[in-house]
Amino acid sequence: MYKIDNIINNNKESFIWLMRQAGRYLPEYRQTRKEAGSFLDLCYNPELASKVTIQPIDRFGFDAAIIFSDILVILDALGAEVTFTENIGPEIKVDINEFVKLDDKTIEELITEKLEPVYQAIRLTRANLDQDKSLIGFSGAFWTLLAYLIEGRGSKTYHNAKIFTYNNPTEFKRVKNILCKAIAIHLRNQVVAGCDIIKIFDSWAGILTPDQMKELVIEPYKIILAELKDVDAKKICFPRGIGSLYSEFCKLDFDIFALDYTADINIANKIANEYGKVTQGNLDPAILFANQEILGKELDKILEATKDIPHIFNLGHGIMPKTPIENVEFMVEKLRGA
Ligand code: CP3
Repeated sequence: MYKIDNIINNNKESFIWLMRQAGRYLPEYRQTRKEAGSFLDLCYNPELASKVTIQPIDRFGFDAAIIFSDILVILDALGAEVTFTENIGPEIKVDINEFVKLDDKTIEELITEKLEPVYQAIRLTRANLDQDKSLIGFSGAFWTLLAYLIEGRGSKTYHNAKIFTYNNPTEFKRVKNILCKAIAIHLRNQVVAGCDIIKIFDSWAGILTPDQMKELVIEPYKIILAELKDVDAKKICFPRGIGSLYSEFCKLDFDIFALDYTADINIANKIANEYGKVTQGNLDPAILFANQEILGKELDKILEATKDIPHIFNLGHGIMPKTPIENVEFMVEKLRGA
Protein backbone atom coordinates (compact mmCIF):
# COMPACT_ATOMS: atom_id res chain seq x y z
CA MET A 1 0.00 0.00 0.00
CA TYR A 2 1.47 3.33 -1.02
CA LYS A 3 0.68 6.66 0.58
CA ILE A 4 -0.51 7.93 -2.82
CA ASP A 5 -3.56 5.62 -2.58
CA ASN A 6 -4.66 7.38 0.64
CA ILE A 7 -4.08 10.78 -0.89
CA ILE A 8 -6.27 10.07 -3.86
CA ASN A 9 -9.10 8.91 -1.60
CA ASN A 10 -8.92 11.68 1.00
CA ASN A 11 -6.85 14.76 1.75
CA LYS A 12 -5.82 14.24 5.37
CA GLU A 13 -2.07 13.99 4.71
CA SER A 14 0.37 16.05 2.74
CA PHE A 15 2.04 14.53 -0.31
CA ILE A 16 5.06 16.37 -1.66
CA TRP A 17 7.52 15.87 -4.48
CA LEU A 18 9.13 18.29 -6.95
CA MET A 19 9.69 18.17 -10.69
CA ARG A 20 13.46 17.79 -11.32
CA GLN A 21 13.93 17.13 -7.60
CA ALA A 22 17.15 15.24 -8.38
CA GLY A 23 19.20 17.93 -10.04
CA ARG A 24 21.82 20.62 -10.07
CA TYR A 25 20.52 22.61 -7.06
CA LEU A 26 21.79 19.73 -4.88
CA PRO A 27 25.55 19.55 -4.17
CA GLU A 28 25.34 15.75 -3.81
CA TYR A 29 23.83 15.54 -7.32
CA ARG A 30 26.57 17.76 -8.79
CA GLN A 31 29.17 15.47 -7.17
CA THR A 32 27.65 12.24 -8.56
CA ARG A 33 27.13 13.89 -11.94
CA LYS A 34 30.86 14.68 -12.06
CA GLU A 35 31.76 11.07 -11.21
CA ALA A 36 29.44 9.72 -13.90
CA GLY A 37 30.87 11.57 -16.90
CA SER A 38 28.24 12.73 -19.36
CA PHE A 39 24.58 13.27 -18.50
CA LEU A 40 23.54 10.22 -20.54
CA ASP A 41 26.26 8.14 -18.84
CA LEU A 42 24.53 9.00 -15.56
CA CYS A 43 21.10 8.08 -16.96
CA TYR A 44 22.41 4.68 -18.12
CA ASN A 45 24.37 3.81 -14.97
CA PRO A 46 21.83 1.95 -12.78
CA GLU A 47 23.76 2.32 -9.51
CA LEU A 48 24.43 6.05 -9.93
CA ALA A 49 20.99 6.81 -11.42
CA SER A 50 19.40 5.08 -8.43
CA LYS A 51 21.69 6.95 -6.05
CA VAL A 52 20.70 10.39 -7.38
CA THR A 53 17.03 9.34 -7.46
CA ILE A 54 17.16 8.73 -3.71
CA GLN A 55 19.25 11.81 -2.78
CA PRO A 56 16.31 14.26 -2.54
CA ILE A 57 14.27 11.73 -0.55
CA ASP A 58 17.08 11.36 2.00
CA ARG A 59 17.50 15.11 2.25
CA PHE A 60 13.88 16.35 2.29
CA GLY A 61 11.77 13.25 2.99
CA PHE A 62 9.67 13.68 -0.16
CA ASP A 63 6.80 11.19 -0.57
CA ALA A 64 7.80 10.07 -4.04
CA ALA A 65 11.03 9.47 -5.92
CA ILE A 66 11.09 10.04 -9.67
CA ILE A 67 13.53 7.79 -11.47
CA PHE A 68 16.54 9.69 -12.71
CA SER A 69 16.45 9.56 -16.51
CA ASP A 70 15.32 11.87 -19.31
CA ILE A 71 12.43 12.03 -21.74
CA LEU A 72 14.90 11.90 -24.66
CA VAL A 73 16.20 8.37 -23.87
CA ILE A 74 13.34 7.03 -26.04
CA LEU A 75 14.76 8.86 -29.08
CA ASP A 76 18.25 7.58 -28.23
CA ALA A 77 16.93 4.01 -27.94
CA LEU A 78 15.18 4.30 -31.31
CA GLY A 79 18.47 5.16 -33.03
CA ALA A 80 18.52 8.97 -33.08
CA GLU A 81 21.80 10.52 -31.94
CA VAL A 82 21.14 12.38 -28.68
CA THR A 83 23.72 14.55 -26.93
CA PHE A 84 23.50 17.00 -24.03
CA THR A 85 25.89 19.93 -24.06
CA GLU A 86 26.44 22.29 -21.13
CA ASN A 87 24.69 25.65 -21.73
CA ILE A 88 23.18 24.43 -25.03
CA GLY A 89 20.93 21.60 -23.88
CA PRO A 90 19.90 18.55 -25.86
CA GLU A 91 20.75 18.05 -29.54
CA ILE A 92 19.20 15.32 -31.65
CA LYS A 93 20.32 14.08 -35.05
CA VAL A 94 18.17 11.69 -37.03
CA ASP A 95 17.72 10.43 -40.57
CA ILE A 96 13.93 10.62 -40.68
CA ASN A 97 13.71 8.44 -43.81
CA GLU A 98 15.42 5.63 -41.87
CA PHE A 99 13.48 6.37 -38.67
CA VAL A 100 10.09 5.82 -40.36
CA LYS A 101 11.17 2.30 -41.36
CA LEU A 102 11.12 1.06 -37.74
CA ASP A 103 8.59 -1.76 -37.45
CA ASP A 104 6.63 -2.71 -34.32
CA LYS A 105 8.83 -5.65 -33.39
CA THR A 106 12.02 -3.59 -33.67
CA ILE A 107 10.50 -0.74 -31.60
CA GLU A 108 9.63 -3.17 -28.79
CA GLU A 109 13.10 -4.74 -28.91
CA LEU A 110 15.00 -1.46 -29.03
CA ILE A 111 13.08 0.10 -26.14
CA THR A 112 13.24 -2.99 -23.97
CA GLU A 113 16.92 -3.75 -24.63
CA LYS A 114 18.46 -0.29 -24.83
CA LEU A 115 16.54 1.06 -21.85
CA GLU A 116 17.28 -1.94 -19.62
CA PRO A 117 19.64 0.23 -17.49
CA VAL A 118 16.62 2.45 -16.65
CA TYR A 119 14.59 -0.60 -15.60
CA GLN A 120 17.57 -1.86 -13.58
CA ALA A 121 17.80 1.54 -11.85
CA ILE A 122 14.08 1.26 -11.03
CA ARG A 123 14.50 -2.22 -9.51
CA LEU A 124 17.44 -1.03 -7.41
CA THR A 125 15.61 2.09 -6.27
CA ARG A 126 12.44 0.20 -5.35
CA ALA A 127 14.54 -2.17 -3.24
CA ASN A 128 16.09 0.76 -1.33
CA LEU A 129 13.07 3.02 -0.95
CA ASP A 130 10.74 3.01 2.08
CA GLN A 131 7.72 0.81 1.47
CA ASP A 132 5.12 3.59 1.51
CA LYS A 133 7.03 5.94 -0.81
CA SER A 134 6.06 5.99 -4.45
CA LEU A 135 8.45 5.51 -7.33
CA ILE A 136 7.53 7.48 -10.43
CA GLY A 137 8.43 6.36 -13.94
CA PHE A 138 7.96 8.76 -16.84
CA SER A 139 8.06 9.48 -20.51
CA GLY A 140 7.74 12.44 -22.82
CA ALA A 141 4.36 12.65 -24.55
CA PHE A 142 4.08 12.36 -28.32
CA TRP A 143 4.20 16.05 -29.27
CA THR A 144 7.17 16.97 -27.06
CA LEU A 145 9.21 14.00 -28.35
CA LEU A 146 8.25 14.82 -31.96
CA ALA A 147 9.23 18.45 -31.36
CA TYR A 148 12.76 17.49 -30.21
CA LEU A 149 13.11 14.80 -32.90
CA ILE A 150 12.25 17.08 -35.81
CA GLU A 151 13.64 20.37 -34.50
CA GLY A 152 16.86 18.69 -33.37
CA ARG A 153 17.21 20.97 -30.32
CA GLY A 154 15.25 23.11 -27.91
CA SER A 155 13.30 25.96 -29.50
CA LYS A 156 10.81 28.64 -28.49
CA THR A 157 8.46 27.96 -31.40
CA TYR A 158 9.20 24.45 -32.80
CA HIS A 159 8.23 25.79 -36.22
CA ASN A 160 10.05 23.02 -38.08
CA ALA A 161 8.21 20.37 -36.09
CA LYS A 162 4.86 22.05 -36.79
CA ILE A 163 5.67 22.42 -40.48
CA PHE A 164 6.64 18.72 -40.64
CA THR A 165 3.13 17.75 -39.50
CA TYR A 166 1.63 19.72 -42.42
CA ASN A 167 4.10 19.05 -45.22
CA ASN A 168 5.04 15.43 -44.58
CA PRO A 169 1.70 13.75 -43.79
CA THR A 170 2.85 10.22 -44.61
CA GLU A 171 6.03 10.40 -42.53
CA PHE A 172 4.17 12.25 -39.77
CA LYS A 173 1.60 9.44 -39.47
CA ARG A 174 4.34 6.83 -39.30
CA VAL A 175 6.40 8.78 -36.73
CA LYS A 176 3.25 9.21 -34.65
CA ASN A 177 2.62 5.47 -34.59
CA ILE A 178 6.27 4.77 -33.77
CA LEU A 179 6.51 7.27 -30.93
CA CYS A 180 3.14 6.42 -29.35
CA LYS A 181 4.06 2.75 -29.39
CA ALA A 182 7.54 3.38 -27.94
CA ILE A 183 6.12 5.64 -25.20
CA ALA A 184 3.55 3.04 -24.14
CA ILE A 185 6.13 0.24 -24.09
CA HIS A 186 8.61 2.29 -22.06
CA LEU A 187 5.96 3.26 -19.50
CA ARG A 188 4.70 -0.31 -19.19
CA ASN A 189 8.26 -1.61 -18.73
CA GLN A 190 8.84 0.92 -15.94
CA VAL A 191 5.75 -0.31 -14.09
CA VAL A 192 6.85 -3.93 -14.51
CA ALA A 193 10.25 -2.92 -13.06
CA GLY A 194 8.60 -1.41 -9.95
CA CYS A 195 7.07 2.04 -10.52
CA ASP A 196 3.64 2.61 -8.95
CA ILE A 197 3.09 5.99 -10.66
CA ILE A 198 3.81 7.05 -14.25
CA LYS A 199 3.93 10.58 -15.56
CA ILE A 200 3.67 11.71 -19.17
CA PHE A 201 5.30 15.10 -19.84
CA ASP A 202 4.05 17.25 -22.72
CA SER A 203 6.24 20.23 -21.96
CA TRP A 204 5.60 21.99 -25.27
CA ALA A 205 1.82 21.58 -25.56
CA GLY A 206 1.36 25.30 -24.88
CA ILE A 207 2.88 26.53 -28.15
CA LEU A 208 0.14 24.94 -30.27
CA THR A 209 -3.14 26.33 -31.57
CA PRO A 210 -6.29 24.72 -30.11
CA ASP A 211 -6.76 22.61 -33.26
CA GLN A 212 -3.14 21.51 -33.19
CA MET A 213 -3.51 20.67 -29.49
CA LYS A 214 -6.45 18.42 -30.26
CA GLU A 215 -4.52 16.59 -32.95
CA LEU A 216 -0.98 16.59 -31.54
CA VAL A 217 -1.60 16.49 -27.77
CA ILE A 218 -5.04 15.16 -26.84
CA GLU A 219 -5.42 12.46 -29.48
CA PRO A 220 -1.94 10.94 -28.98
CA TYR A 221 -2.41 10.99 -25.17
CA LYS A 222 -5.65 9.10 -25.77
CA ILE A 223 -3.85 6.47 -27.85
CA ILE A 224 -1.10 6.06 -25.25
CA LEU A 225 -3.52 5.93 -22.30
CA ALA A 226 -5.63 3.32 -24.11
CA GLU A 227 -2.52 1.16 -24.55
CA LEU A 228 -1.90 1.47 -20.81
CA LYS A 229 -5.48 0.79 -19.70
CA ASP A 230 -4.59 -2.40 -17.83
CA VAL A 231 -1.39 -1.04 -16.29
CA ASP A 232 -1.56 -1.00 -12.50
CA ALA A 233 -0.12 2.44 -11.72
CA LYS A 234 -1.49 5.91 -11.06
CA LYS A 235 -1.21 8.05 -14.16
CA ILE A 236 -0.14 11.72 -14.08
CA CYS A 237 -0.47 13.89 -17.18
CA PHE A 238 1.37 17.20 -17.64
CA PRO A 239 0.08 18.93 -20.79
CA ARG A 240 1.94 22.16 -20.03
CA GLY A 241 0.05 25.22 -21.24
CA ILE A 242 -3.10 23.34 -22.34
CA GLY A 243 -5.10 26.45 -21.36
CA SER A 244 -8.57 26.66 -22.87
CA LEU A 245 -8.65 22.92 -23.66
CA TYR A 246 -8.35 22.02 -19.99
CA SER A 247 -11.82 20.39 -19.71
CA GLU A 248 -11.35 18.58 -23.00
CA PHE A 249 -8.12 17.10 -21.67
CA CYS A 250 -9.77 16.05 -18.38
CA LYS A 251 -12.06 13.69 -20.33
CA LEU A 252 -9.10 11.36 -20.89
CA ASP A 253 -8.51 8.27 -18.77
CA PHE A 254 -5.89 9.20 -16.13
CA ASP A 255 -5.72 9.96 -12.38
CA ILE A 256 -3.71 13.11 -11.68
CA PHE A 257 -3.58 16.42 -13.56
CA ALA A 258 -0.20 18.15 -13.14
CA LEU A 259 -0.84 21.90 -13.32
CA ASP A 260 1.75 24.21 -14.76
CA TYR A 261 2.21 27.60 -13.13
CA THR A 262 0.02 29.41 -15.68
CA ALA A 263 -3.07 27.57 -14.40
CA ASP A 264 -5.45 29.28 -11.96
CA ILE A 265 -5.48 26.64 -9.24
CA ASN A 266 -9.07 27.34 -8.12
CA ILE A 267 -10.54 27.08 -11.61
CA ALA A 268 -8.35 24.09 -12.47
CA ASN A 269 -9.33 22.21 -9.29
CA LYS A 270 -13.01 22.78 -9.96
CA ILE A 271 -12.83 21.39 -13.49
CA ALA A 272 -10.47 18.51 -12.58
CA ASN A 273 -12.69 17.45 -9.70
CA GLU A 274 -15.78 17.42 -11.96
CA TYR A 275 -13.97 14.82 -14.05
CA GLY A 276 -12.77 12.85 -11.00
CA LYS A 277 -9.13 13.93 -11.31
CA VAL A 278 -6.77 14.92 -8.51
CA THR A 279 -4.52 17.93 -9.17
CA GLN A 280 -0.80 18.34 -8.63
CA GLY A 281 1.21 21.59 -8.67
CA ASN A 282 1.44 24.55 -9.34
CA LEU A 283 3.93 26.77 -7.46
CA ASP A 284 6.06 28.83 -9.86
CA PRO A 285 9.67 27.59 -9.40
CA ALA A 286 10.82 31.24 -9.50
CA ILE A 287 9.00 31.85 -6.17
CA LEU A 288 11.60 29.60 -4.49
CA PHE A 289 14.07 32.44 -5.05
CA ALA A 290 11.90 34.98 -3.18
CA ASN A 291 12.26 35.71 0.53
CA GLN A 292 10.50 33.36 2.94
CA GLU A 293 7.73 35.81 3.75
CA ILE A 294 6.68 35.93 0.08
CA LEU A 295 7.22 32.19 -0.35
CA GLY A 296 5.12 31.52 2.76
CA LYS A 297 2.23 33.62 1.40
CA GLU A 298 2.32 31.82 -1.94
CA LEU A 299 2.28 28.45 -0.17
CA ASP A 300 -0.70 29.61 1.92
CA LYS A 301 -2.62 30.32 -1.29
CA ILE A 302 -2.08 26.77 -2.52
CA LEU A 303 -2.93 25.30 0.90
CA GLU A 304 -6.12 27.37 1.05
CA ALA A 305 -7.15 26.38 -2.49
CA THR A 306 -6.67 22.68 -1.73
CA LYS A 307 -7.77 22.41 1.90
CA ASP A 308 -10.96 20.46 1.17
CA ILE A 309 -9.77 18.33 -1.73
CA PRO A 310 -7.07 15.73 -2.37
CA HIS A 311 -3.96 17.41 -3.77
CA ILE A 312 -0.33 16.59 -4.50
CA PHE A 313 2.05 19.42 -3.76
CA ASN A 314 4.53 20.18 -6.54
CA LEU A 315 5.93 23.01 -8.61
CA GLY A 316 4.42 24.18 -11.89
CA HIS A 317 7.63 23.22 -13.71
CA GLY A 318 11.11 21.90 -12.86
CA ILE A 319 13.08 23.28 -9.93
CA MET A 320 15.82 25.61 -11.19
CA PRO A 321 19.54 24.82 -10.84
CA LYS A 322 20.40 27.72 -8.50
CA THR A 323 17.39 27.34 -6.16
CA PRO A 324 18.36 28.09 -2.52
CA ILE A 325 18.17 24.80 -0.61
CA GLU A 326 17.13 26.57 2.61
CA ASN A 327 13.96 27.72 0.83
CA VAL A 328 13.14 24.15 -0.18
CA GLU A 329 13.62 23.14 3.47
CA PHE A 330 11.40 26.00 4.63
CA MET A 331 8.73 25.00 2.10
CA VAL A 332 8.70 21.34 3.15
CA GLU A 333 8.51 22.24 6.86
CA LYS A 334 5.64 24.64 6.25
CA LEU A 335 3.70 22.15 4.13
CA ARG A 336 4.21 19.31 6.63
CA GLY A 337 3.12 21.51 9.53
CA ALA A 338 0.06 22.89 7.83
O1 CP3 B 1 14.30 14.63 -10.90
C1 CP3 B 1 13.60 14.42 -11.92
O2 CP3 B 1 12.60 15.11 -12.20
C2 CP3 B 1 13.94 13.24 -12.80
C3 CP3 B 1 14.76 13.47 -13.91
C4 CP3 B 1 14.31 14.25 -15.13
C5 CP3 B 1 15.26 14.93 -15.93
N1 CP3 B 1 14.63 15.38 -17.04
C6 CP3 B 1 16.69 15.06 -15.60
C7 CP3 B 1 17.48 16.09 -16.29
C8 CP3 B 1 13.07 14.39 -15.74
C9 CP3 B 1 11.70 13.93 -15.28
C10 CP3 B 1 13.29 15.09 -16.98
C11 CP3 B 1 12.21 15.36 -17.96
C12 CP3 B 1 12.50 16.23 -19.11
N2 CP3 B 1 13.65 16.28 -19.85
C13 CP3 B 1 11.55 17.08 -19.72
C14 CP3 B 1 10.11 17.24 -19.29
C15 CP3 B 1 9.94 18.10 -18.12
C16 CP3 B 1 10.20 19.56 -18.35
O3 CP3 B 1 11.18 20.06 -17.78
O4 CP3 B 1 9.43 20.20 -19.10
C17 CP3 B 1 12.19 17.70 -20.81
C18 CP3 B 1 11.56 18.72 -21.75
C19 CP3 B 1 13.51 17.19 -20.90
C20 CP3 B 1 14.55 17.49 -21.92
C21 CP3 B 1 15.77 18.05 -21.33
N3 CP3 B 1 16.66 17.37 -20.53
C22 CP3 B 1 16.25 19.37 -21.46
C23 CP3 B 1 15.56 20.47 -22.24
C24 CP3 B 1 17.45 19.44 -20.74
C25 CP3 B 1 18.40 20.60 -20.66
C26 CP3 B 1 17.89 21.71 -19.85
C27 CP3 B 1 18.67 21.91 -18.60
O5 CP3 B 1 18.06 22.16 -17.56
O6 CP3 B 1 19.92 21.84 -18.68
C28 CP3 B 1 17.67 18.19 -20.13
C29 CP3 B 1 18.79 17.82 -19.25
C30 CP3 B 1 18.44 17.31 -17.88
N4 CP3 B 1 17.49 16.36 -17.62
C31 CP3 B 1 19.07 17.69 -16.65
C32 CP3 B 1 18.48 16.91 -15.65
C33 CP3 B 1 18.84 16.88 -14.18
C34 CP3 B 1 20.22 18.67 -16.52
C35 CP3 B 1 21.48 18.07 -17.10
C36 CP3 B 1 22.64 17.97 -16.19
O7 CP3 B 1 22.55 17.55 -15.01
O8 CP3 B 1 23.71 18.27 -16.68
